[in-house]
Amino acid sequence: MTLLKLPPLLDPHVHLREPGATHKEDWDTGTAAALAGGYTQVLAMPNTQPPITDAPALALSQTAARAKARCDYGIYLGAGADNMETAAALAPHTCGLKMYLDQTFGSLRMDDLASLMAHMARWPAHKPLAVHAEGRTVAAAILVAHLAGRAVHICHVSRKDEIELIHAAKERGLQVTCEVTPHHLFLTADTPSTLARPIREGFREVRPRLATEGDRLALWAHLSAIDCFATDHAPHTIPEKTGPNPPPGFPGLETAVALLLGAVHSGRLTVEDITLRMHTNIRRIFGLPDQPDTFIEIDPDLEWTVRAQEMFSRCGWSPWEGQTLRGRVVRTVLRGKVAYEYGKVSAQPGTGKDIAQYPIPNTKD
Ligand code: DOR
Ligand code: ZN
Ligand code: ZN
Repeated sequence: MTLLKLPPLLDPHVHLREPGATHKEDWDTGTAAALAGGYTQVLAMPNTQPPITDAPALALSQTAARAKARCDYGIYLGAGADNMETAAALAPHTCGLKMYLDQTFGSLRMDDLASLMAHMARWPAHKPLAVHAEGRTVAAAILVAHLAGRAVHICHVSRKDEIELIHAAKERGLQVTCEVTPHHLFLTADTPSTLARPIREGFREVRPRLATEGDRLALWAHLSAIDCFATDHAPHTIPEKTGPNPPPGFPGLETAVALLLGAVHSGRLTVEDITLRMHTNIRRIFGLPDQPDTFIEIDPDLEWTVRAQEMFSRCGWSPWEGQTLRGRVVRTVLRGKVAYEYGKVSAQPGTGKDIAQYPIPNTKD
């Protein structure tokens, strides 16, 4: 058995649910899941309860993260219709701004062009700006960012027309980057699947929705335009997913690299493709700090069967339940210390550091 030593994985897109929904996940379980999946830095989305749109909400998230995170993290601020000035002022304490231009889980949503333009103009040009955009809103985000003279990152691209548009924009030199999730690379709306057991439609709910086989193949065909693989780790519990209004989202931190290693075994990807899109590009695009003496070890041939019961995420299910995957992270080392090894997370809550330039705003004054 030869272990591969690789740079640590970084995830620019996770939902850790704290504050407000710790029955799904919290900073402790979410970052334990991250370390088990080989991640040492995760950037957490602001669609929590309350949403992270002002200083008090940001302070709530920071306080919980500081006490509980086992790996390093950043916290996004959420864009709303009336927080342009507040958001820009809080920028140094965050890892970036997140804008929701389409309907998804939670209350954060921006529909109007004026708000999009105002945020794009005010948010500091050197700070990351990520958008949940689908279809036409991808075009809107790219154009408005271009006119504002700034870069924009498009989250979880899932469709052929979107990736073609992004590829064309990149070829013309526009400052646009994008990420794709493993679920959009490996599943379609028609995957009959083992997708979650018991198989109920609610388990398939995710935004953007699983797309067609043509969309999925287009993502692979435009691999050169894909900057990052991000999980969009979005845990919801089994009762929620099987209830009357199943919320969208899949957990993903503990399966992502194994799924992508499957594509290495089938000749679709190289290990370098993975490192580029799960470390190097993410570090560059999101300006993430170096973590000294930090790396992962992968057993590329280890076969294992996905069992949500054995996972660290609190949600209790996986879309890949019962599937046998080949390749697994066996050790994650953070700042010289073993943080995860063969099924056991040893990094303690509070080990994780905020990647923000000025992590703690003084909100008590
Ligand atoms: O499926 C999704 N779930 N897509 C999103 O954009 C949000 C996420 C969530 O927070 O559950
Ligand atoms: Zn999203
Ligand atoms: Zn998301």
